[in-house]
Amino acid sequence: MKTIEKNVGAFVAEDYRTAAVFQKYGIDFCCKGNKTINEVCNNKHILVEDLLNDLTAVKKQGDNQNIDYQSWSLDLLADYIEKKHHRYIEETTPVLKQYLDKLCKVHGRNHHELFEIAEQFNAAVGELATHMKKEELILFPYIRKMVKSKGADENTLQPNFGTIKNPIKMMLQEHDIEGGRFMKISSLSNSYSVPIDACNTYRTAYLLLKEFEDDLHLHIHLENNILFPKSIELEERISQKRTKRSYETVSEAVTDLTKRGYTTDFPVLVEKECLVCNKTAKELSPDEFEIDETYRFEGSSDPGDEIIIFAISSKKYNMKGIVVNGYGVYSNSESSKIVSRLAQHL
Ligand SMILES: [Fe+2]
Ligand SMILES: [Fe+2]
Repeated sequence: MKTIEKNVGAFVAEDYRTAAVFQKYGIDFCCKGNKTINEVCNNKHILVEDLLNDLTAVKKQGDNQNIDYQSWSLDLLADYIEKKHHRYIEETTPVLKQYLDKLCKVHGRNHHELFEIAEQFNAAVGELATHMKKEELILFPYIRKMVKSKGADENTLQPNFGTIKNPIKMMLQEHDIEGGRFMKISSLSNSYSVPIDACNTYRTAYLLLKEFEDDLHLHIHLENNILFPKSIELEERISQKRTKRSYETVSEAVTDLTKRGYTTDFPVLVEKECLVCNKTAKELSPDEFEIDETYRFEGSSDPGDEIIIFAISSKKYNMKGIVVNGYGVYSNSESSKIVSRLAQHL
């Protein structure tokens, strides 16, 4: 994929330091993180080259501040969001409410925008409190269950909301609304710049309000661009395993899997411990594949001969195909080793 076709959210998901660059250009990387670099540059009349140069520069800074959230398990990420970002909102809300209340009383006469800022803030935190409860009581527990069960116990994975896409759709809409409210607050406060007659409370309140908005951006980014899409993928993988077909013969399985998009044959190259793509002759590491489905068949002449068909897919190579591991046909213990490496990705 060309860099300009990559999503803004994907950049930030890989390296959170790039968020500062997007912020500098006024690009929304959390709620609208699904836009490509090309799209945001066109919309904002920014030179793609300038943006990419800044992104490269920030990535070269070499500090260790960037946390690789992408590599975290989904239950860990849900715990982290809850403990760090949800608790932050709960703890900071009463403090900021008090500050804004005081500001309205003392400075409201000269700075009318303070009333609207307080109104927007109160509306946002009111909605966020309910929003976070929905995540904590419904969505996150389901994500944790999926991670724990890996689909093994189907009965524990029958949510009353149907698919996880439904609550996620609702959460995304709510993120959009709150993101919009804070955009309004930022614009009303002229990006949190205090007027010349500002007192210390004014300064502290604006600093805290800015910190609150930054924290909300990271919070929404972690959900919109990492936790939610990965949870949808996990649910799909689990449901694929559940709806596994049953086939009478090897050829019936191969024909149906081909129809369902598993169109590549991957012979096993034992000497190099890799798979070979039958279309391009490329050698591919089994570590980059997931096993989506497995089918076992008894040999026709000797029931001791077993043929196993693996339907496999790789996001990295954007490929779906079939590995046939037939004892007595193709296989020996060496190719089984490769298959067991594949199986570790289940
Ligand atoms: Fe949240
Ligand atoms: Fe959320």
